[in-house]
Amino acid sequence: MRVAVLRSLDELPVGTALAVFFDGGTPTHPDVWSVVQHRYQGGPGQLIERRRWKGQLGDVLSVPWLGPEAGPLYLVGLRDENHPMTSETLRKACGSLGRLLQVDRVDRVALALPVLENDVGLSLRAALEGLRLGQYSFRKYGTTEPGEPEPMGLEQVFFLDVPEAALTSAVAVAAVVADAVALARDLVNEPPAYLYPARLAEIAADYASSVGLAVRIYDEVDLEAMGAQAFLSVGRGSEAPPRMVHLHYRPEGTPVGVLGLVGKGITFDSGGLCLKQPASMLDMKGDMAGAAAVLAALWAVGRLKPPVEVHGVLCCAENMPSGRASRPGDVVRAMNGKTIEITNTDAEGRLVLADGLVFTARQGAQKLVDVATLTGAATVALGNQIAAVMSNDEALQQAFLASARRAGEAFWPLPLEKDYKALLKSDIAFIKNSANSREAGTIIGGLFLSEFTEGRPWVHLDIAGPFWAEKPAFYLAAGGTGFSTRSLIQFVLDQAEA
Ligand code: BES
Ligand code: MN
Ligand code: ZN
Repeated sequence: MRVAVLRSLDELPVGTALAVFFDGGTPTHPDVWSVVQHRYQGGPGQLIERRRWKGQLGDVLSVPWLGPEAGPLYLVGLRDENHPMTSETLRKACGSLGRLLQVDRVDRVALALPVLENDVGLSLRAALEGLRLGQYSFRKYGTTEPGEPEPMGLEQVFFLDVPEAALTSAVAVAAVVADAVALARDLVNEPPAYLYPARLAEIAADYASSVGLAVRIYDEVDLEAMGAQAFLSVGRGSEAPPRMVHLHYRPEGTPVGVLGLVGKGITFDSGGLCLKQPASMLDMKGDMAGAAAVLAALWAVGRLKPPVEVHGVLCCAENMPSGRASRPGDVVRAMNGKTIEITNTDAEGRLVLADGLVFTARQGAQKLVDVATLTGAATVALGNQIAAVMSNDEALQQAFLASARRAGEAFWPLPLEKDYKALLKSDIAFIKNSANSREAGTIIGGLFLSEFTEGRPWVHLDIAGPFWAEKPAFYLAAGGTGFSTRSLIQFVLDQAEA
């Protein structure tokens, strides 16, 4: 996708679509709107009246081709009663625009884009990410009839009257971010028989080494030698053995800090012997969404090259029932020596992450972030638009939340109430992996993980709500969303500035 500046509407190439934005009934660029009205002899304004078009966010009105010099015209709504207008509003609006342009087989468009949050770079990034992600679809296994043409993607995007330098840097970041989110979505959407732990590890190694990261894959023998019994116990029931993947980005020169990102990579979560109901298993091929986001972020970091060192660790295993699977009542020892009574084999994510966190801290990470589809309770608490965040360090949590806000992803903090640790008390081991009741399920997951952070400042992201979309919306397609990839990338970039 090529991107360029148009100094004025007079430079609009013939046949290129034009998109103008509306905050409800008010055009964001009255000057552009009056030129358009003049060129189209008042037609667009009449169409708004006739269709009773309200300029609501997500509504895009396409004005029919009116003549040789007047190309296709799109009116894009931004009005959202429920949220203040931010760069995320642009990302959503441009997602809807991108989707409609694809349906209309339009491959060249010029945007008269409003600047939001007083930040032209952030606005341009949001618009470009929205267009790209709105046009995302997972077609590997063929959703269209054989012979049907592939959907058309945007080839050229113009922005009206924006500073050249701001556009150049926005394009560089937005392309990398959109590629990363698309990778995370692809991996979540892949069927679990294809994407077993060793395959996920190989794919991760390919992406990471393509941008110069150091990669090491730990197989079941290596994990045994490391004493990662909690991790190993999860994969034991599967024919496909577990893998831990360590991706390492080292900047040129002295790094300003060392971050560790750890992702839950359960390539399929059947629940193990504590088998899930069929309906709850449907989207469990996506139980590696945390690992996908960490890989995607590390790939992006390798391309953007910020001056901060980053370890990315993917905890990949398949949770299956079999004669070799963990039983409720089994006890395992994690890498830090703490013993865990497995009271529910469906609370497997925290077991792989326990060893993943200890490993990452011991690699030298000074600050830890883990990302996981950890608890169904997170969806009960916050729904599918908002992820839960928990932390043992208020300053780090605030820093993460600031980055997430810039990236346009919604997180909300839950308290790691230490009194609730009593619910994880085991009679025969240091801790058990699940409580007897369903109270505070998301917090309990966080409290469990807090025992494996080796004293480092740490943020835990439970993305069980937003990792998946049931239906398309704005820049989301049905299926994997790539949620948290944008926030992780922004967090690394912001940490490099701090
Ligand atoms: N992967 C699931 C959590 C999940 C559920 C993610 C729905 C996305 C959508 C996790 O491994 C799990 O099964 N958690 C249990 C924990 C319980 C046994 C303590 C849960 O949420 O029921
Ligand atoms: Mn589970
Ligand atoms: Zn799981």
